[in-house]
Amino acid sequence: MSADLDDAVARSAQIVRQRLQGRALPRTAVLLGSGWGGFAQAVEQPLDLPYAELPAFPALAIGGHAGVLRHGLLQGRPVWVLAGRKHAYETGDAAAMKGVIRSLAALGVHTLVQTNAAGSLDRAMPPGSLMLLSDHLNLVQQSPLLHERGDGRFVGMVDAYDPALRACARDAARSRGHVLHEGVYAWVLGPQFETPAEIRMLALLGARAVGMSTVPETILARHAGLRVLALSMITNLGAGMSDEALSHAHTLQSAQACAAAAVDALSAVVAALPEAPDAD
Ligand code: HPA
Repeated sequence: MSADLDDAVARSAQIVRQRLQGRALPRTAVLLGSGWGGFAQAVEQPLDLPYAELPAFPALAIGGHAGVLRHGLLQGRPVWVLAGRKHAYETGDAAAMKGVIRSLAALGVHTLVQTNAAGSLDRAMPPGSLMLLSDHLNLVQQSPLLHERGDGRFVGMVDAYDPALRACARDAARSRGHVLHEGVYAWVLGPQFETPAEIRMLALLGARAVGMSTVPETILARHAGLRVLALSMITNLGAGMSDEALSHAHTLQSAQACAAAAVDALSAVVAALPEAPDAD
């Protein structure tokens, strides 16, 4: 990591600690993707730190992403909620969230819960469904670890989406009456949606959902030693699988329709995750 980013991460962690004024440091951070913003309202005693005040955090420029790091309590447990992510499709930089993930690690976070909106490649998983990521396809073949040094950059990606956390998530969601599908998420750069031919290809490759995020942050988090859990909200069938015209507005509109159930499921999942770093 560059000395500049090192410095920005150290200063971000210091600013956060000062602003917390003795509040407990969360061990879990929840990164909200398109459509998941309602989860920020599910936490109590919110304290907001705008990304703009944290030197290692990115400036954001997309509708639906506010750019706020929120400290709050979920069923009495401290959590970080990150409202807003910078996507690789904005600048071509897959490492856009590196400073965020490093800052979380510097603040003692050991679990990153990611959320996103995704298209489904499986008609048995229609819009409104929730899918736990079991694995991913980095089809963009970009790495946020480019320019890193040392052996630590050769990160193992087997079980990148922690099996114990997934089991915990499945149980928690089920006990609250939610079905969690599970499958492989294909990362495409975007920002254009896929062609129908690309969707057929992704399905052949074994992907069950497709989206434009999450994978870089998973790689960064694994590199930083965090455990990762990720959840997709299915907002549409893949291009060509239905008559719907896809657009970002359609994604957000469709997400709104299932947001309440998704946020309820996410709350149950996050509250059930182990608090100690390595407890299963
Ligand atoms: N493709 C890529 N990203 C997406 C989609 C999609 O169909 N839906 C929501 N995000």
